[in-house]
Amino acid sequence: MRKKLIAGNWKMNKTVSETEELLVNIKHLIHGDALQTVDVLVCPPFVSLYAAKNILGNSNIHLGAQNIHQEEEGAYTGEVSAKMLVNSGCSHVIVGHSERRQYFIETNELINLKLKKALEHGLVPVVCVGETLDQREKNVQIEIVNGQITKCLAGLDDEEIQKIVIAYEPVWAIGTGKTATPEQANEMHINIRNFISELFNNEISENIVLLYGGSLNDKNAEELLSMSDIDGGLIGGASLKAESFVKIINIAKNK
Ligand code: PGA
Repeated sequence: MRKKLIAGNWKMNKTVSETEELLVNIKHLIHGDALQTVDVLVCPPFVSLYAAKNILGNSNIHLGAQNIHQEEEGAYTGEVSAKMLVNSGCSHVIVGHSERRQYFIETNELINLKLKKALEHGLVPVVCVGETLDQREKNVQIEIVNGQITKCLAGLDDEEIQKIVIAYEPVWAIGTGKTATPEQANEMHINIRNFISELFNNEISENIVLLYGGSLNDKNAEELLSMSDIDGGLIGGASLKAESFVKIINIAKNK
């Protein structure tokens, strides 16, 4: 049985004090039993991570970053290393988000290096893949996503692949209010699971956690999280309010 994972990607939102306030509210609204059945992850901006960890304490809510640098340390002005993330209390890190691919020109090869650096330090990488609107209209989404997976996961062994989470986020659904239909999303998730089975083996593919992301909210979570191969969500907009985020967690709890 795969445990559901509900992850909030806060992007470039919330100051340190706003982060503290939102986390206090989330902790207040969340029922302890929800955290037994659902893994919950929040990913605030870098500058808030340490403060966030202090608020989360040993609440069982996991903390993640939104990016990582692929080198160990050194003269990389403005960058943040794996060691720093671990020391700030992170257990997870998002890699290869489509906004990083689009605005910061991150390639699959770079994402592969970041992912390996995260694994080296015991961080769980949440690797994002997904096609653009143009690619979906040309009906090449399967090739695009499988290509991203092949390159992003290149060189991982059977043990390493079991430590990662994959998030399918169709670019046309991110922040647009346009959600993939549950059937469209599940079809891609089944494809990813089958592809992981081809690359690794069936047991690994059955256990890997596959998140859906792209305008997931408390209104459409019920339908999306009911699908056979959707194991949770990577949530942007709807993770910025405690009420909607906790509602989604409660929906996941009952799946
Ligand atoms: P959204 O963002 O929920 O605001 O569409 C999701 C994401 O980019 O991870």
